[in-house]
Amino acid sequence: MQRALLAAFGVAVMTTATAGGKPVSAVTPPSNEMVRSRAEALIAEMTPQEKAGQLSQYFYFAVFPSQAQLVNGHLEKGEVGSLLFVSDPAETNRLQKIAVEKTRLKIPLLFGFDVIHGLHTILPVPIGMAASWDPQLVENAQSLAASEARAVGIHWAFAPHVAIARDPRWGRIVEGAGEDPYLGAAMAAAQVRGFQGAFIGSPRHIIAGPKHFAGYGAALGGRDYDEVNLSDNELWNVYLQPFKAAVDAGAGNIMAAYMGLNGVPASGNSWLLTKVLRDTWGFKGFVVSDSAAVRSLAVQGLASDPDDAAVRALKAGVDMEMALIGKPAAFESLPTALEQGRISRQELDSAVRRVIEAKIRLGLFENPYVDEAKAMTVLHDPSHLNAARVAAERSAVLLRNENAVLPLDAHRIKSIAVIGPLADSPRDTLGPWVFKQNNLNATTILAGIRAKVGTKIRIDYSEGVRLPARLHPSPFGMMDGPQPPKAALDETLEIRRATELARGADVALLVLGEGQEMIGEMASRSSLDLPGRQQELLDAVVAAGKPVILLLMNGRPLDLKETKADAIMEIWYPGSEGGNAIANLVFGDAAPGGKLPFTWIRNAAQAPLIYSHLTSHDPGNADKRYWNESSEPRYPFGYGLSYTKFSYANLHIERTSYAPGEPVNVTVDVQNAGPRAGDEVAQLYLHQRSGTSARPVRELKGFQRVTLQPGETRNLRFTLRPEDLRYWTSVLGSWVQDAAKFDVWVGGSSQADLASSFEVKRPH
Ligand code: BGC
Repeated sequence: MQRALLAAFGVAVMTTATAGGKPVSAVTPPSNEMVRSRAEALIAEMTPQEKAGQLSQYFYFAVFPSQAQLVNGHLEKGEVGSLLFVSDPAETNRLQKIAVEKTRLKIPLLFGFDVIHGLHTILPVPIGMAASWDPQLVENAQSLAASEARAVGIHWAFAPHVAIARDPRWGRIVEGAGEDPYLGAAMAAAQVRGFQGAFIGSPRHIIAGPKHFAGYGAALGGRDYDEVNLSDNELWNVYLQPFKAAVDAGAGNIMAAYMGLNGVPASGNSWLLTKVLRDTWGFKGFVVSDSAAVRSLAVQGLASDPDDAAVRALKAGVDMEMALIGKPAAFESLPTALEQGRISRQELDSAVRRVIEAKIRLGLFENPYVDEAKAMTVLHDPSHLNAARVAAERSAVLLRNENAVLPLDAHRIKSIAVIGPLADSPRDTLGPWVFKQNNLNATTILAGIRAKVGTKIRIDYSEGVRLPARLHPSPFGMMDGPQPPKAALDETLEIRRATELARGADVALLVLGEGQEMIGEMASRSSLDLPGRQQELLDAVVAAGKPVILLLMNGRPLDLKETKADAIMEIWYPGSEGGNAIANLVFGDAAPGGKLPFTWIRNAAQAPLIYSHLTSHDPGNADKRYWNESSEPRYPFGYGLSYTKFSYANLHIERTSYAPGEPVNVTVDVQNAGPRAGDEVAQLYLHQRSGTSARPVRELKGFQRVTLQPGETRNLRFTLRPEDLRYWTSVLGSWVQDAAKFDVWVGGSSQADLASSFEVKRPH
């Protein structure tokens, strides 16, 4: 495309500069006026059917030919605005060609995909990325994922998932950043920046679609899709916070949730989608429904039928419908609704404008296609695997390390027994939200350990036990295509064999947890036990008497009972490079520095249990609220060990008294008091002693991950901004900053004990 033409469209004014010897093209975004007038000109030419088409998004995959057939019919008529689940560049080009060359108005398609934790290069699952407490790492990772997506013709990620999750029975806890709104907001904003780059339309970047708006994580009983009832206090102070951060970071899209929020299904909830999102926060992008969620308004008892559902969704603020597989979009009936006066032309056009504007900003009218050969180079860029490995290393959380059993000394160990159903499973190593459309290759833990030690250390392997099959089949299982049958395994014999291998080795390394299909969408569990006979395997191996390292591959706290493993490390689903990353951690070529993004409860019956609760009744018996066991968690929020030790001192608050709205500066010394270099995440917690509402015992309000050499001390500075001292109170129905006394703690977990205080006073 010639420069002049591009410039005339106001889409991309290119200059070439050099950075570090590499030419980079600086592209500036088109002006809002230019985008608007171009969209208006196009809308003026569109029929109501074409408009409704732009607002319709369809699944398109080869495994369901009938779906492809349904879509093809609509596509050629110019009645499809977007497709999802296509990731082959030849396919995106082929389909795009139909839209651009065969339809009347030649409006390009927008391709969306669940780029949740990578496209071709699979990164650790989001809960693991959050455990890195490293927003820059997270931003870089999503930027890498965006570059792969954009190279194959994908323009939009249905991510980040920014739901607060406080009940680990809910499977989708794995897709988010855990229980805390401050950490969640930091991760949400970092991901939006990573996906989108400096602006929508930045080269090699895509649109981010934070989801699912809003409150989805509070599903009753942790059951996926079940209703959610949240107080205003929880909504504003907790659940909406990551969304607000994502919108402030410039997210171009928001996905509405499935479930009912306080009695109104989210995709028909005008309070959420219009009053909060657009009127209060000023969101300018487009809203997509979750899959089938528009038709579902009729199923959920809000709308009377699918036509009514389409009207209700559009009026509430849904711009694009992600259609139900096998059915035309309910939005197909919008032209009739227009004719009948049930929606106005302005309502229809506003939605169309937002979708068309996104396409203009992305430059799709000028560059609808991708270079298929170049796409392959991007997907196979070796630096991507390196980045995935570093991400997996930085995500791991060391939960226990008795007698400094980790890291292993490769010069002293002669043999290792690697045991467990997840030790050599590439598919599970990748985690959920990875399909045939991605890339199913992964280095397993066994392969990573073998590659690291070569022939120097003897490695014996036993699968130990099999993971149980799920009770109800899930459509997600089908997405990987048919699986080769596995030979039968006599688990009793294999547990015995594994125990013998452990007895004959210097150390046993168990990789246990949950298979990837046991977590994620439609994968809630009513128990947090190790599934199947894994606990029996673990106990038997421990009884063999050799040092035991337990690596947990999963995405939620598990009930560890009183297991006697010497070391426990949470490795999440570590992605394509998982095995190499974990081998580096096990042998000390990398050091664990992640921290828990959730409270690790003892068992499912404790859910929900959060660190930022209110003081209630006598705090002296707060750990004794159950008759039969402690009401304390197994590990607190923010917890994680290292191969070294850190100490905190000299917590200093600049002044003792502040006026409302003034920033509060806090400094603290953190020292690496141990023998090895390591990473620490210094965390600042705040408590307001009295106020308009009662405030939680502690709330995270700052964190920094630092690398310190042995003996090194670093003076860290935190600034509490006015918004960190503000909260939403139901007493006033608004935000408030009270004049009150505040406690501050800084340390390595939510149980930090180094404390100080300050006061906020109204000036006289
Ligand atoms: C999920 C969304 C996802 C969509 C498309 C839905 O079932 O809830 O998170 O983006 O499917 O795959």
